[in-house]
Amino acid sequence: MSQVAHTVIGRLQDFFTKALQKAFPDAPAEVEITQGTFTPYQYNSAMKLSKPLKMNPRQIAEQIIAAAGEDAAIEKLEVAGPGFINITLKSTFLENELMEMLKKPNFGIEASKKQKVVIDFSSPNTAKEMHVGHLRSTIIGDTLARLFEFLGDDVLRLNHVGDWGTSFGMLIAYIKKEVPQGIQNVTLTDLVAYYKAAKQLFDADESFKKAAQLEVVALQGGDKATLDLWKAICQISRTAYQEIYDLLDIRLNERGESFYNPLLQDVVADLEKRGLVEVSEGAKVIYLDGFQNREGERLPLMIQKSDGGYNYDTTDMAAIRHRVDVEKAERIIIVTDAGQATHFQMVFQAAIKAKYVDPAKVRLDHVPFGVVLGADGKKFRTRSGETEKLIDLINAAVIKAEAIVKERNPDWAEEEQKQVAKALGINAIKYSDLVCHRISDYMFSYDKMLRFEGNTAAFVMYSYVRIQSIIRKVGVGIPDAKIALVHPAEVALGLQLVQFAETVDSMAEDLLPNRLTEYLYKLAETFNHFFRDCRVEGSAEQNSRLQLIEATRRVLGTGMQLLGLTTVERM
Ligand code: ARG
Repeated sequence: MSQVAHTVIGRLQDFFTKALQKAFPDAPAEVEITQGTFTPYQYNSAMKLSKPLKMNPRQIAEQIIAAAGEDAAIEKLEVAGPGFINITLKSTFLENELMEMLKKPNFGIEASKKQKVVIDFSSPNTAKEMHVGHLRSTIIGDTLARLFEFLGDDVLRLNHVGDWGTSFGMLIAYIKKEVPQGIQNVTLTDLVAYYKAAKQLFDADESFKKAAQLEVVALQGGDKATLDLWKAICQISRTAYQEIYDLLDIRLNERGESFYNPLLQDVVADLEKRGLVEVSEGAKVIYLDGFQNREGERLPLMIQKSDGGYNYDTTDMAAIRHRVDVEKAERIIIVTDAGQATHFQMVFQAAIKAKYVDPAKVRLDHVPFGVVLGADGKKFRTRSGETEKLIDLINAAVIKAEAIVKERNPDWAEEEQKQVAKALGINAIKYSDLVCHRISDYMFSYDKMLRFEGNTAAFVMYSYVRIQSIIRKVGVGIPDAKIALVHPAEVALGLQLVQFAETVDSMAEDLLPNRLTEYLYKLAETFNHFFRDCRVEGSAEQNSRLQLIEATRRVLGTGMQLLGLTTVERM
């Protein structure tokens, strides 16, 4: 089922489903329509039907066409190649679609069924710096949240920070011992240093190890002094993360691992009651079908360690249960690096087995992404070998953008230069991440992300600026005219605009932001061809063409907004 209520592809699917039924009442319902290579759309399924129907695919295609009859959308159906049906649309249909689209808020794009969507993203680990992996999660998660909000879904953005666990015992013991003045004026960078020192002490000093373990017990037991320190540590971390979220314009509700802590005991008891738990070397584990390590041994989902402690697996089981039971989630989306894919597959399977999730009612998506590489093709690091602080990374993009903006526009007021540079730098960070297929490893390069040519943030931003300035230059505003798609470049642009809905639809289905970046790039290019080939100012078609330009501006602007990009007045 498609995610978006009304798309051209959806309409064609209905049309072909009926035609197929008419031509071959007993055939399986194979109706795959895609955007076409030579025509706007094509029907691809005649080849698949060849076997069950024991017929040549071209013949099948002929008969489907014969049965199809007329439709207000379709200009022409032609059999092509081994048995594709190429679909040409009527310009009048595109004109009407476009006019309808422009009349409605959000272009009439909405979810086919409004749902509660929980998106778990960003999710750094308390007392540690956010790293480039979290940056990817933040950027990808935010655009997905924006997408479902746009569709009218009820979206809950959750920051599942790693704010609980035994490592806090070490840190707290260290602070009590070595930082007697307290941590009121301490930064996250200091906490990271404390943690490092604490780890060394923990490995070297038996009495410190003991103290750290006692702090874990105190934390679990709710001891006031320990809990207060833990809260202060969380607050210092939160402040540091918030600086990044503010810079990137990201909204999140923090609901970290600690939130689920009171629920863990019951989850384990419940899983045991359901007979899912086995004991392996003292630990409580769940074995699931299809998960093995390299040696072919069964891979356990460990819900309670042999020392009685809970862990990441337990917390995620509790989180799913809570999101379904209490939050009434109908779709749960978790955005992390691909390295955690097995973890989430196991958690999802276990949650279904435990009946925390009914897969017919709740959809679970882990959204994995690849590693961030430096320009040298190796895992991203700074020169010193340390992982770069995220805030420095983002600020560096803004500083480099400022140099570019100043060089292009030396006569601008400094304030505008700075404002545009900030937009460009941050847009570039976001766009260069979203533009690559998220599963692939992603090469982080300032030079590449700040280019004006190719499918880049600057190109898309500049296209928006140019469209605005074209409208300004004609100087008559946007007349209330009917759009006529006559010139091939007009038809192409009209089609591209109408396809915004199905782009959004496919992104909501497979959660790939590069669907939208590709779309926007193509929209900008299609617009450029139109503007090259079709005169606007002073032409007989001026009113219609101005409408078409305005439609492009609005769709491009909306697409940019969905990606979390800022538009500017000039560049
Ligand atoms: N804190 C984890 C990390 O840094 C990500 C958490 C993702 N969400 C979850 N429900 N496990 O990798």
